[in-house]
Amino acid sequence: MTHMDQGSRTRCSADFEDIAGDLLHAARMDDMERYCQHGSTSTYQHSVAVAYYSLRLARALRIPCDERSLVRGCLLHDYFLYDWHDGSQAPDRWHGFTHPRHALANAERDFALNDIERDLIAHHMFPLVPIPPRCREGWIATLVDKACSLREVFVSNPYANLCPKEAAL
Ligand SMILES: [Fe+2]
Ligand SMILES: [Fe+2]
Repeated sequence: MTHMDQGSRTRCSADFEDIAGDLLHAARMDDMERYCQHGSTSTYQHSVAVAYYSLRLARALRIPCDERSLVRGCLLHDYFLYDWHDGSQAPDRWHGFTHPRHALANAERDFALNDIERDLIAHHMFPLVPIPPRCREGWIATLVDKACSLREVFVSNPYANLCPKEAAL
């Protein structure tokens, strides 16, 4: 890794913490630590990873976007607040299709969202949900969410070397 790579990575981590700040430590966010997302990864770790890597990707590709909305939307994209593996907790049997709706309802209840954050949360499961995101932030999240999910399924301790500080929260 070059000095420049290291510098931009460090800057991205610092900016991520600035943007994510309060939301990372909001009361109900901690609940997500109790729920399994994939393999050994909690929904909290997954959401932090999707948010962090979405910011990294947007910067690496110089995609103009609202970074704050991107990070906040990603942190809340799976804010459905149940263990989807446990049928007794899930509100229905169609988690893959319906959880964006549950996540959005919970996020609207607990936080003040803007239109970008709403769109990102509601459509991040495209193409499983038929309506695609309308904003760039939503497209970034949709791609990074799938990449993170694959990594969580196939790699044990998937974020150990990638974003140690953020994923170890
Ligand atoms: Fe999701
Ligand atoms: Fe996700």
